[in-house]
Amino acid sequence: MDPLDAARFSLADFHVSDTDDPLVPPADFTEWRKASTWGTSMYERSLLGGAVPRTSVEAEGLRRNVINLASYNYLGMTKHPETTAAAKAAIDAYGTGACGSPILSGMTDLHRGLEKQIATFLGRENAMLFNSGFGGALGALEAILRKGDIAIVDNKAHLCIVDGAKLSGAQLLMFDHNKAEALDTILKKTTGKRRIVVVEGIYSMDGDVADLPAILEVTERHGVGLMIDEAHSILTMGATGQGVGEHFGVEQRIALKYATFSKAFAATGSFVSGKTNLLDYMRYYANPYGFSCALPPSVVASASKALEVATRDDVLRKRLWENSTYFRRQLVGLGLDIGESTTQVVPIVIGPNRPMLYMLSYAMLAKGLFMAPVDFPSVPEEQVRFRCSVTAAHTRADLDEALNIIESTIVRALKGTNKLRPADEARAAAATVAAHPGS
Ligand SMILES: Cc1ncc(COP(=O)(O)O)c(C=O)c1O
Repeated sequence: MDPLDAARFSLADFHVSDTDDPLVPPADFTEWRKASTWGTSMYERSLLGGAVPRTSVEAEGLRRNVINLASYNYLGMTKHPETTAAAKAAIDAYGTGACGSPILSGMTDLHRGLEKQIATFLGRENAMLFNSGFGGALGALEAILRKGDIAIVDNKAHLCIVDGAKLSGAQLLMFDHNKAEALDTILKKTTGKRRIVVVEGIYSMDGDVADLPAILEVTERHGVGLMIDEAHSILTMGATGQGVGEHFGVEQRIALKYATFSKAFAATGSFVSGKTNLLDYMRYYANPYGFSCALPPSVVASASKALEVATRDDVLRKRLWENSTYFRRQLVGLGLDIGESTTQVVPIVIGPNRPMLYMLSYAMLAKGLFMAPVDFPSVPEEQVRFRCSVTAAHTRADLDEALNIIESTIVRALKGTNKLRPADEARAAAATVAAHPGS
C-alpha cells in the first residue's frame, strides 16, 4: 500500500478483524499503519514540556517549539502556582498513591473534602469522585441502568456515555443532535419504560452548547430525568463556573451532573453530583469506582485548589471568553468554517479531504503550531477537521501568531474550495460572531 492509497482508509475500516486469533491484529491494519505513518504520527505526539500555550513537542526526532492549541488547559491551571503547590504539599503529606479502591482501602480526607467542596459549589446534596473521566460517565450509567431500561442520548455525545449505556445492557437510542423535537418523538414512542436522557454541556468536537431550556421542557413534560456531561463546560460556563446548567439558569432542574477534572481543572478523574441516596447506590454498583484505585492525593489536592482559584472570582473565565470570542471572530474573518462553535472549543472544518488534513498538520507543526487533526470516525467523513482549544492562558500574541500560521497554511490550502468564504462574505460573517455565551 503506498501512502496516498493509505489515505483512502480510516480506523472505521479495520474494526472487523479477519484473523482467527484475537491476539493477532488484522494484517491489513498493520500494513495500513505502516503506510500511513505520515498521517498517524500526528497522534500521540510527545510533549517535551507542560500542556501550556508555549511548549515543545518532538517532531521527527527533534525538539520543536510550538504554540499549543491542542490541550484542554482552559483556565491555565496546569502550571498555576497555587495548584502545583497544593499537589506538592499533598505528596509530602500523603505520599504518591491512594493504594486501593475507595470501598476496600478507603480514601483520604482530601478526597472527602473535594466531594463536599463540589457538592457545595453546585448546590447539590452529594458528589463522588472517579479516578478517570471516561470511567466516571461509564460507571455512573452502568450503575443505574438495567436491561429493559432505555438510555436516550444526543447523537454527538461522548463515547464514554455511549459505552456506559451499552455496558449496562439498557437499550441505547440516539436523538438528532440538540433537537428537542427529535427527543420528544423518541420519548413519545417509549412510554412505560425506565428512561434517562443524556446530553453534553459543550460538545467536545463542535464547541456548541446544549439547548437545555428546550431539552428540559421536553424531559420534564415526559417525567424523565436528565444527566449532563459538563466535561468542557465545568468552570468555563456560567457566572460562577457551574457550567451550562448555570448559564441557562436551570442547574437545579438537572438530576445528575457529571464532569471531568481533565479539562479546566487540569488534573484527571471526574465526579458525579446529585442526590445522596442515588450516589450511595452508585458507589456500590459503579465498577470503575468500587474496583479501581482512588485518585492520587496530589491530583485531588490540585483539583480542589483549581476549584477554589476558579471560583474565587471570574477573572480567568472572563479572559477565556474574551480569548475564545477573539479567536473565533478572526477565524471566521479569514473565511474558515468553525461549524456551530460558540465557545473555547473551536473546530476548523477542512471537508472530506483527509490527505489535506494531515499535510496541513505537518505544515503547521513545521511553522510552530500544534493543533490535533480529528478524523473520521470521530467526526463525519465529510467534515474532518482541526480542533482548537483556546485557553485563558493564551496571550493575544500567542493567538495572533497561531492565526498567522493558520492563514499561511489552512487558508492558503482551502483557496478556491467551498470550505473558504470569499473575503467580503467572511468580513460580514465575522461581524455576526457572537461573544462567548458565558459573557
Ligand atoms: C465530553 C467528554 N466527556 C468525557 C470525556 C472523558 O474525559 P477524560 O479525558 O477525563 O477521561 C471527554 C474527554 O475528552 C469528553 O470530551
